[in-house]
Amino acid sequence: MPIDFKLQSTLHVGIIMDGNGRWAAGRGLPRILGHRAGVEAARRVVEAAPDAGVGILTLFAFSSDNWRRPPAEVDALMRLMAAYLENETARCVARGVRLEVIGRRDRLDAKLCRAIAQAEAATAAGNRLWLRMAVDYSARDAILAAARGLPELSRDALERAMGPPVDLLIRTGGERRLSDFQLWESAYAELVFTRTMWPDFDGSALVGAVREFHGRERRFGAVPQAPVYRQEAWLD
Ligand code: IPE
Ligand code: IPE
Ligand code: MG
Repeated sequence: MPIDFKLQSTLHVGIIMDGNGRWAAGRGLPRILGHRAGVEAARRVVEAAPDAGVGILTLFAFSSDNWRRPPAEVDALMRLMAAYLENETARCVARGVRLEVIGRRDRLDAKLCRAIAQAEAATAAGNRLWLRMAVDYSARDAILAAARGLPELSRDALERAMGPPVDLLIRTGGERRLSDFQLWESAYAELVFTRTMWPDFDGSALVGAVREFHGRERRFGAVPQAPVYRQEAWLD
């Protein structure tokens, strides 16, 4: 279902894919089956993104704080991410998707690191969608690392060292917090929080969020468009 907006392919959408565990618990299933269903949702959303007007899609797959989870769940998540990368690379190449993984690599196991390197190399020429998967990612650590790499600290230099600004930030699963995701890049992001659990999210939900984004007025600190200031607007 393509959207007929201008500037459509420049939209950067970030998604905090939350609610896998509750989705599973609600069905009397182990959490890992929620994560498996979450991978399917990610597949659907990646497929729908270009026609929804998304040029950059940043998906929060595993936060640096998620290491606090039970080892068996962490292990299952690592395996699922490696399998996703291995299974999806050919499809990404065919669909013009460039895949990149952001976050720390030094705590990931060798198999996952290999899968990341292979997927990134194979998809490097993709120019229809830039898919960024955040794995062992902490926005606070990313800001620190970028600042440390600068010869001289300035806002412009740091801006250039960080990732692209997020236009629309979606969080599924009902929570209304950022949980250390894209804190710098989301300075002026439009926020959409939905109660839909991630495994139930799909292309039409993405299109709905993008439509909501286009219905909002982004002011970046400036004054609103003229009609709001017409005197009659203040009379009632
Ligand atoms: C999101 O779902 C996936 C990850 C954080 C890896 P959760 O696992 O956080 O699901 P809930 O929030 O417990 O339902
Ligand atoms: C954020 O979800 C991380 C990901 C979706 C990967 P969490 O479930 O870890 O966040 P909190 O703990 O509810 O803040
Ligand atoms: Mg959660």
